[in-house]
Amino acid sequence: MNTIIRCAANHRSRMAAKQLIYPAAERNKDPILSVLQQYIEQGADKIFLEIASGSGQHVAHFAQQFPQILFYPSEYESRLLESIAAHTNGLTNVKRPLKIDITTDFHTWDGKITPESNVNFHKSLKLQDSSWGLRDINDLKALAEKNGIKLINIIDMPANNKTIIWKKMSITR
Ligand SMILES: C[S@@+](CC[C@H](N)C(=O)[O-])C[C@H]1O[C@@H](n2cnc3c(N)ncnc32)[C@H](O)[C@@H]1O
Repeated sequence: MNTIIRCAANHRSRMAAKQLIYPAAERNKDPILSVLQQYIEQGADKIFLEIASGSGQHVAHFAQQFPQILFYPSEYESRLLESIAAHTNGLTNVKRPLKIDITTDFHTWDGKITPESNVNFHKSLKLQDSSWGLRDINDLKALAEKNGIKLINIIDMPANNKTIIWKKMSITR
């Protein structure tokens, strides 16, 4: 019995060691949750795909608030997949994180980025990888329209962030 308890404790501390904690993700998780609570209907047959889950702090937080929804976290960086798995360990409504690359080819930037903090954020993303950066909303709208997705709302969030609500229109054949 003691051995089983020790094994479980060791497993928990190994998992905790793999959990990356981003301060920004911690600050943003409740403001994002309140938007999700406005748009997600409670229902047993819903699935939630999270793109670019980062550390996994967000999906772990959201999954506990929507136990009827099945969550699929995903990331492009392999090293983050372990952190997501560690944050979501034991949550029965979260699947193993998927490796998904959402690289898109945006060649132009016509819009203006404001304020200065977002200009700097855009530059810091570009420095890490030249294909990264803030996307022009007009480019996103055009791409969405091509794929039958409509822009529903743009919500201002703390720290000059935005939540953009999109809706996939039903496919008519
Ligand atoms: C600013 S972080 C956001 C992470 C998380 N959603 C959060 O709020 O803490 C951006 C994430 O996008 C991921 N990412 C970058 N390029 C990607 C790509 N081509 N496909 C999927 N994810 C990508 C990075 O690995 C990083 O975790």
